[in-house]
Amino acid sequence: TQVDVDASAYDAGEHESYMRKEILEQPTTAQAVLRGRLDDRFGTAHLGGLDMDARDLRAVRRVKILGCGSAYYVGQMGAGLIEELARIPADAEAASEFRYRDPVIEPDTLYVAVSQSGETIDTLLAVQEVRRKGGRCVGLVNVVGSAIARECDGGIYLHAGPEVAVASTKALTNMFLGFALLALQLGRVRDLSIADGKRLVAGLERLPAQIEEVLATESELVEVAHVLAEAQSLFFIGRVRGFPVAREGAQKFKEISYRHAEAYQTSELKHGPLALIDPDVPTVALVPSDELTERNLGALHEIAARSGPLVVVTHADVDLGGIDARRVVVPRNEPELDPILLTIPLQLLAYHAAQHLGLDIDKPRNLAKSVTVE
Ligand code: AGP
Repeated sequence: TQVDVDASAYDAGEHESYMRKEILEQPTTAQAVLRGRLDDRFGTAHLGGLDMDARDLRAVRRVKILGCGSAYYVGQMGAGLIEELARIPADAEAASEFRYRDPVIEPDTLYVAVSQSGETIDTLLAVQEVRRKGGRCVGLVNVVGSAIARECDGGIYLHAGPEVAVASTKALTNMFLGFALLALQLGRVRDLSIADGKRLVAGLERLPAQIEEVLATESELVEVAHVLAEAQSLFFIGRVRGFPVAREGAQKFKEISYRHAEAYQTSELKHGPLALIDPDVPTVALVPSDELTERNLGALHEIAARSGPLVVVTHADVDLGGIDARRVVVPRNEPELDPILLTIPLQLLAYHAAQHLGLDIDKPRNLAKSVTVE
């Protein structure tokens, strides 16, 4: 079913679609989720809504993130942040599958439900499953007072403002930032040093302006998007921090351009999908400047050798050598925060591909903004 969002107080203004408006709002909405929650002095975050004191936070031995669709993919990014910063085992699972496998609920696991609407039935039922079995579940939710927010033990509101377009953009960015805050707080009650905490706080403070920088490159992305729109099928690839970004990029692309877009770990290419690479199948590769750059470049050579068209989302200091590729450069921040800056150009690529194809961007066929029945 469709949940109608009251757009009367929020119209698309001069923008041709809500999705574009929501993409362009991100520098401002990103500030809103961070506001009042960063602590420069102790290099940590304050999340009063979690309703957990330092002892409760220290007692957490594992984190399980539950969400659907893009919220699940951002959950994977969040799990990575929590493992990196807090060194607690963390993973994300599709909330739609969770309760059907009769999950073991552990008292020292922190369950985190993530949802823009707060009304997604699969996520809501997963929260109920956790709570019925005595687990603690907190929410990362955008819509205040929504069903999931009410059902959770506490949470972090995302403050992204109303999101109308079916394809979620600004809410997802704030989910990532919400996870960064949670990871920071979980980390700082453990072994994350004050220096690392401060490094992350400063990185988060720089992010809104860097999102603005990425948005300023929109005109360069239009031509790239048009090339991708012409393909019937394409791959999005990334490794470790880049893999959930690839999943989210493929999701946005298929939702609004109706092209077959598949995400793969770059490392898995040679275990199967390389067989599909040819001049008609483009690949969008996430290649940040990090400990995996050289390995990523090796995979790009494999694709180029099969004349697969390449779009590489990367940092300025990454030298692609002789690889024939369209290069999309995003600013560097702290490596842990790379996923979000890599995600922004993928939103614009999906948007301009769909626009080129003349599709209904805000209301793609067969999809609802929020799925409230099973
Ligand atoms: C995102 O672009 C999708 N429309 C979809 O995957 C969405 O993220 C999912 O349905 C979850 O919605 P929620 O965040 O409102 O729970």
